Amino acid sequence: MERILIADDEESIRFVLKKAMEKKGYSVELAEDGIQAIEKVKGERYSLIFMDIMMPGESGLDILTKVTDTPVIIMTAQDTMRNAVEAMKRGAYDYITKPFDIEEVNLLAARAINAWKLSREVAELKKEIRGKYAAGGEIIGKSDAMKQLYKLIGKVSASDLTVLIQGESGTGKELIAKAIHYHSNRSSGPFIAINSSAIPKDLLESEFFGHEKGAFTGAHERKIGKFEVAEGGTLFLDEIGDMPIDLQAKILRVIQEKEFERVGGNKPIPADVRIITATNRNLEKAIQEGRFRDDLFYRLNVVPIVVPPLKDRAGDVPLLVEHFLRRFRDELDVEEKGIAPEAIKILNSYTWPGNVRELENTVKRAMVMSSGNKILPEGLPTAVFGEAHVKAGRVKPLDRLWEEKLKTFIDNGDCLKMKGMYDLIMKQVERPLLRFVLEKTNGNQLKASEILGINRNTLRKKLTELEMDAKGNPLPPKNQGKKISKRTS
Ligand SMILES: Nc1ncnc2c1ncn2[C@@H]1O[C@H](COP(=O)(O)OP(=O)(O)OP(=O)(O)O)[C@@H](O)[C@H]1O
Ligand SMILES: [Mg+2]
Repeated sequence: MERILIADDEESIRFVLKKAMEKKGYSVELAEDGIQAIEKVKGERYSLIFMDIMMPGESGLDILTKVTDTPVIIMTAQDTMRNAVEAMKRGAYDYITKPFDIEEVNLLAARAINAWKLSREVAELKKEIRGKYAAGGEIIGKSDAMKQLYKLIGKVSASDLTVLIQGESGTGKELIAKAIHYHSNRSSGPFIAINSSAIPKDLLESEFFGHEKGAFTGAHERKIGKFEVAEGGTLFLDEIGDMPIDLQAKILRVIQEKEFERVGGNKPIPADVRIITATNRNLEKAIQEGRFRDDLFYRLNVVPIVVPPLKDRAGDVPLLVEHFLRRFRDELDVEEKGIAPEAIKILNSYTWPGNVRELENTVKRAMVMSSGNKILPEGLPTAVFGEAHVKAGRVKPLDRLWEEKLKTFIDNGDCLKMKGMYDLIMKQVERPLLRFVLEKTNGNQLKASEILGINRNTLRKKLTELEMDAKGNPLPPKNQGKKISKRTS
């Protein structure tokens, strides 16, 4: 039931209003002065408050500023414009003058409650959308490296400073950019991401700044660029290291002058945009090589954030795994799945060159592929599983071994005379590898291709190419070049 508070020092007003509101089905509480009113407001949630402007204790106007999430209708005996204006300025929903017409008050009360409900719903919806938009929004991790990062995010969120996020691919740079935006006072504005390496070069400028109708052939309509779309919010320039040098000059100008022009336009447009950039390249090196402007770098690098690779975040892998298991259960609508401790151990020891994104894909794949209710080590990708074997000493690291072998295979002098060494060596390695695995699997190509981590058709093609039979033995000379029969698997 909607609850209404009536605060007035005049007994007759309280009585009349209470009766009218109760007749409409509202539950009513009363306050006889300002002090009581404040106490009631603190202790209870109301759908609407009727409040006398002049009360002993505290005036209705003063209380008004303390009530932020309930519509207030101010009641005033003196029908002066000044009171009304002041009440509205302080956030009253509306005001009525005494004596009032009950029908009017009924209508006003219903309207206030409805409007408030609606605006709450919209606010909730907005919040929900924002939460979804920042999808995967939660940043997971308790490692020291991540704790440092959270502090930094907190600090820079409170400012409007330009941030440069550097880190390997898949470390969560975009996620961090979003976190900064959604914690900043621009959070109700848009977060717009633009990746210059994903857009054809000749469209880039218009993508950033928009264009006027007729600016170039094909510009049939005026187009708004990302700087304008991001007005009041944050513009995330992803892969900034790939930005062409002439565009870099233009971005620098916007940062310095806080305005820009559309392509083909001459009217400066103000840019109220916070800029966050990210790169997985070494910008200092790009500057040395003349591919990146150093003046832009200094403008962008006001606050540098370096995101550590996943292998340096001790203890975060299990937390992330849990997070992704939960997320994909909902997203993929698959059954609840756990993970075996041995599998977690393997994930923990892997080096994750593709960082969190690789882990995310690994968990997703394992969830779909594994049949039971637990992800087992066998359900993990070959790369992950294989590395664990090497680390556990079950497989010797091969590169040293090969180096030795290569030295005996070709001495240095011959090496320099050789052409097509890559293919030659690869074939020398592929043949024994395939033979070994096919021998172990008794010629079962399905099993062999699984172990090798290649497609069964690829295995067949390789055998033909390397002139080997279905069991991995060299084809007798008369058969060489012939296709292998498909039945023998
Ligand atoms: N700490 C984290 N917690 C939860 N999810 C994460 C975390 N870091 C990254 N992710 C997830 O991993 C994926 C990759 O993250 P993101 O796109 O932010 O990385 P990136 O550094 O921008 O990568 P790239 O350099 O390839 O663009 C996303 O799906 C993201 O939600
Ligand atoms: Mg990214």
